[in-house]
Amino acid sequence: MIRSMAYLGLTTPNVAEWRGFGSDILGLHRIDDGADGAARFRMDDADCRLWVHPGEQNDIAYIGWALSAESEVLDLKSVIEAAGLVLTKASTDDAAARRVAGYYWFIDPLGFRHELAWGQFVSPGTFFPGRPMSGFKTGDQGMGHIVLLVPDLHAADRFYRDVMGFNQSDRITDGGRELLFYHCNGRHHSLAIGCPAPGLRGAHHLMLEVNSLDDVGIAFDRCFERDVPVSKSIGCHTNDRMVSTYIFSPSVLRIEYGFGGIAIDDLWEPKSYSRTSIWGHKELRPDLPPAMIIGN
Ligand SMILES: [Fe+2]
Repeated sequence: MIRSMAYLGLTTPNVAEWRGFGSDILGLHRIDDGADGAARFRMDDADCRLWVHPGEQNDIAYIGWALSAESEVLDLKSVIEAAGLVLTKASTDDAAARRVAGYYWFIDPLGFRHELAWGQFVSPGTFFPGRPMSGFKTGDQGMGHIVLLVPDLHAADRFYRDVMGFNQSDRITDGGRELLFYHCNGRHHSLAIGCPAPGLRGAHHLMLEVNSLDDVGIAFDRCFERDVPVSKSIGCHTNDRMVSTYIFSPSVLRIEYGFGGIAIDDLWEPKSYSRTSIWGHKELRPDLPPAMIIGN
């Protein structure tokens, strides 16, 4: 059973820009680069949560999901293989590089690499944000949520629920778009998907939740002071009630920087909404690419 989103890996031609963006704008704790020159960031006691690898194009390199033990990964093995996929165990060195005890990986039918990991290394008391701020809300809810753009919405919906075991949180239909949201813990969603055009693959945003509304406002101000594009104004979502802004990262991938998302439990009943936001989230930069499209 997947417990939370543990870590994320990106590739981008813009690693150098990410170093300052991650620490000075987002407040992540940048640590020494990885062996391949990847910028690496912490957001809590976990040794590392975000890798930004050098690459020729902007891409999601891998999504790391936390399970409690290797036996839990093996419980998923038969259903993953029944879906026609190959589950591969990472070497000890590769697991050490991700700062976990071990992981298995596979490529899903939509083209995304998932890593099913256990035993994430933590170093309590050693997280220092890159700028003064209250810290990130993680713990049992994991590092945040990721919104993927999938080539086939219904194939993706079936795969993420039936094979990976995510629970549906709700759906939003807004202006002809349909967005589907999934949870695996008390966070309203750890994964969401949309299909802006059949056949297209990409990612819209990574959400990081902070412990204070002030941190959202300070990040918003700092973007304007540093000429970092803010793609959506501060607003409040209908479904998870997150008060957030969307910052344009050097990967084109937006960073939803939010506060105050609701917590849900096993009794949660999926809802439908006809709009994404109660207020705010106005598009500020329609001139910028609307999402990170992979392969373009
Ligand atoms: Fe979001």
